[in-house]
Amino acid sequence: MKFLVRIITLLAASVLFALPAAAQKPYEPQVGQAGKDVIWVPTPDEVVERMLRMAQVTPNDYVVDLGAGDGKIAIAAAKKFGARALGIEYNPEMAKHAQGNVEKAGVAGRARIVQGDIFVSDFSQATVITMYLLPALNLKLRPQILSMRPGTRVTSHSFTMEDWEPDETSSMDGRRAYFWVVPANVNGNWTLETGAERHELNFEQKFQKIDGSIAFGAMQAGLRDARLRGFAISFAYVDNNGVRRDFSGRITGGRMEGSFRADNGSEGRWTAAKK
Ligand SMILES: C[S@@+](CC[C@H](N)C(=O)[O-])C[C@H]1O[C@@H](n2cnc3c(N)ncnc32)[C@H](O)[C@@H]1O
Repeated sequence: MKFLVRIITLLAASVLFALPAAAQKPYEPQVGQAGKDVIWVPTPDEVVERMLRMAQVTPNDYVVDLGAGDGKIAIAAAKKFGARALGIEYNPEMAKHAQGNVEKAGVAGRARIVQGDIFVSDFSQATVITMYLLPALNLKLRPQILSMRPGTRVTSHSFTMEDWEPDETSSMDGRRAYFWVVPANVNGNWTLETGAERHELNFEQKFQKIDGSIAFGAMQAGLRDARLRGFAISFAYVDNNGVRRDFSGRITGGRMEGSFRADNGSEGRWTAAKK
């Protein structure tokens, strides 16, 4: 009987001691594991590298990875590019694991992983957004991304933004990385002033693509080489004397300003105000 009690005590003790050991087992994420809106599959290193290179990330950037997984993009942004980085990950265990990876990589001063849902998170301060989600999720995020500061750079592994065409597509090993710059909104009518002259200017805009016209009395002259990149704009027109004028400048809300140069050698400053 004594022997039996001893065996039972030993068994009970081994179960009790085994429990904390099992609880301490490190969390091991599994590729393909379910996520809230998309499963976890890590972006391969060379694609991460290209995404951050195509966005021309520098130490002045604040990179936000939407759906951070094991934190590898935020870690690379901080470690290789010296940027501040944030990863937003819905799965609490994964977020904790990723934060552990950040600490192991020695970049806890610059990178951080937080548990959160990208669809209710504020990432408006990011200068660079990275994503490896799904086409429908990119589309759902698109209005929020388009309302970010003009010039914000966006990269996506594998998935596009439908009719918002990328500014760059890079391919490697059968995988694609896409890049966009959030454009300023210039759509509509503006009053252009170049010294003594004043003209009505109109822009039609589809994402970063612009075209337009300028009024010379009853005539609408088409713009040439109109280009928008973030908050930078350039365009040209040929005036009623047959002189081509090239404009470049910056957009700040409802104002634009910059410099122009004409075929006949004249040059100067210009401003435009949204009507
Ligand atoms: C395809 S993985 C990409 C991971 C990482 N960005 C990379 O490229 O290596 C997508 C990640 O998003 C997470 N996720 C899914 N839905 C989410 C949501 N609504 N908010 C935050 N994270 C989410 C998943 O748990 C998964 O870790």
